Amino acid sequence: MRVLVIGSGGREHALVWKIAQSKLTDKIFCAPGNGGISALAECMDIKVDDIEGLLQFCRKEKIDLTVVGPEAPLAAGIVDEFRKAKLRIFGPQKKAAQLEASKVFSKQIMAKYNVPTAAFKIFDDVAAAINHVENRSMPCVVKADGLAAGKGVVVAKSISEAVEAIKKIMQERVFGDAGNKIIIEDCLDGQEASILVFTDSKEVIPLVSSQDHKRIFDNDAGPNTGGMGAYSPAPIVTPELFKEILEKIVYRTIDGLVKEGIEYCGVLYAGVMLTKDGPQALEFNVRFGDPETEVILPRLKTDLVEVMLAASEGKLNKISKLGGLNWDNRACVCVVCSSKGYPGEYEKGKEIFGLEEAEKIKDVVVFHAGTKKMGEKIITNGGRVLGVTGLGNSIKEAIDKTYQAVGKINFEGMHYRRDIGKKAITS
Ligand code: AMP
Ligand code: GLY
Repeated sequence: MRVLVIGSGGREHALVWKIAQSKLTDKIFCAPGNGGISALAECMDIKVDDIEGLLQFCRKEKIDLTVVGPEAPLAAGIVDEFRKAKLRIFGPQKKAAQLEASKVFSKQIMAKYNVPTAAFKIFDDVAAAINHVENRSMPCVVKADGLAAGKGVVVAKSISEAVEAIKKIMQERVFGDAGNKIIIEDCLDGQEASILVFTDSKEVIPLVSSQDHKRIFDNDAGPNTGGMGAYSPAPIVTPELFKEILEKIVYRTIDGLVKEGIEYCGVLYAGVMLTKDGPQALEFNVRFGDPETEVILPRLKTDLVEVMLAASEGKLNKISKLGGLNWDNRACVCVVCSSKGYPGEYEKGKEIFGLEEAEKIKDVVVFHAGTKKMGEKIITNGGRVLGVTGLGNSIKEAIDKTYQAVGKINFEGMHYRRDIGKKAITS
């Protein structure tokens, strides 16, 4: 089977790495890929949002399965176009992808189908939004409706911060049309967890739990990033909580979409806040998480390609009949190494040293994100550069092994958090 993976991050490296282990895989392509992916897949210089280019490539290369990493092509309707062209693709169609692409749509589905989530109001008018925050309690959360590369959410502690966020999104239009509407919602308190499931709308198969670390600095300080590290499992998600999250958040949402006439095929990611009043949905993503994928897939024993094929054909019950997914019971930790300046302006083109040394450590794999191959060298080429990942018999062991590997790696300006996974062993 010939497989194309779309994307260029650590998530896509983990997907390619896992797909390469499938007995069904003959050849993997990745568009556009990165310096690490190129060791496992042929990297093609096609942009993730060039749907026509990707379609033509799949026709020409007779691709049997396309796997979409990031949200942008899903939101733009890549799955609809591929299906029309009778090309097999893993991911939700455009209508279903609104669950991530429009926070207004997502909150409306949650409200209609009784999914626990923060109380909210929707605004398309700056004055009304400002008037609302001037008359409500603080803190509150201001969210741009559309896709904003993870930067469209502001947790405002004061009225002035909330007003500033509203103006930035709606008046300065820093996210363009994504800011035509905003959500203003209550601020929730608790730990966050990521719950991902495979679904074809009829069947739902959960993956193992994980937790991301969104802030750039230790102890969750500094600005939000795409994610600075993750671990799996998230011990805070007890089996009882997991069941509650599936029943109240995941099943209600998927069933709600079905009632709206919207089929969901692919992986659905629920970002959940574990509050003292129970789990509340923060957001949905219509794709694998990054860096959650880097800690989930090393634990997956089942053939990923088999699962993706079944999901994309609406036959996920085949996997359930075979007993569902098999997991490695060990814990997995991923520490992201980022470029100096990230998540703001950052430097590129720095040579990366020590990758081979790090990967010599048993049960360690280094997933590349913003890297590029230049001759024999690997250089930095993005904000998040590497996801150093290790398996261990406990989270503590996985943490130690991963940081041992991180210690072997070096590039100018390299930054990483020292406390990835700490929450899991101290709480
Ligand atoms: P979202 O894209 O909606 O998940 O928001 C990104 C991040 O903002 C989340 O992972 C949370 O850390 C934070 N966040 C979003 N909504 C809320 C909320 N209602 N209360 C507290 N934090 C929130
Ligand atoms: N790790 C957060 C995300 O993938 O959106």
